[in-house]
Amino acid sequence: MSKLEIVKVPDPILRETSAPVDSVDADVRRLMDDMLETMYDAPGVGLAAIQVGVPRRVIVLDVATDEEEPQPLLMANPEIVQLGETLRTHEEGCLSIPGVNVEIERPAEVTVRYVDRDGAARELAADGLLATAIQHEVDHLDGKLIIDFLSRLKRDMIIRRFKKQQRPASV
Ligand code: NI
Repeated sequence: MSKLEIVKVPDPILRETSAPVDSVDADVRRLMDDMLETMYDAPGVGLAAIQVGVPRRVIVLDVATDEEEPQPLLMANPEIVQLGETLRTHEEGCLSIPGVNVEIERPAEVTVRYVDRDGAARELAADGLLATAIQHEVDHLDGKLIIDFLSRLKRDMIIRRFKKQQRPASV
């Protein structure tokens, strides 16, 4: 496994729509493993392939606390097939927008269909932080970011700040 570099805002690749993977082959398995290592190292509870510059529908998640055993979830072609009616508010961060947290209200329960690391079709009903994280990562696959939940003014301010940080310092 190797650690990958995480793409940050305002890199335009983060706005791309990711394409499904045809099958979970050795390349996809290696991508999943590398993404998991990158996510644990960051640390974060979720990561989408587009965040390491790969526009494929692959996400990894682990919402276990430090006291719990790791509970890695590796998903290819995740598809949310059901959303609950009750809502959950969570202050979400994103490894591609470090230092920015956005309070977002999303359905508290989701059912997701995906293909696992062994190529098996699976369905998972999730709630709590995992439900939030799944929706956050699937948003990434469609080019959507947490700052899109903010007003345009606030979003533009954040993007400007990141653009400024990237510019080389002039002397
Ligand atoms: Ni994110």
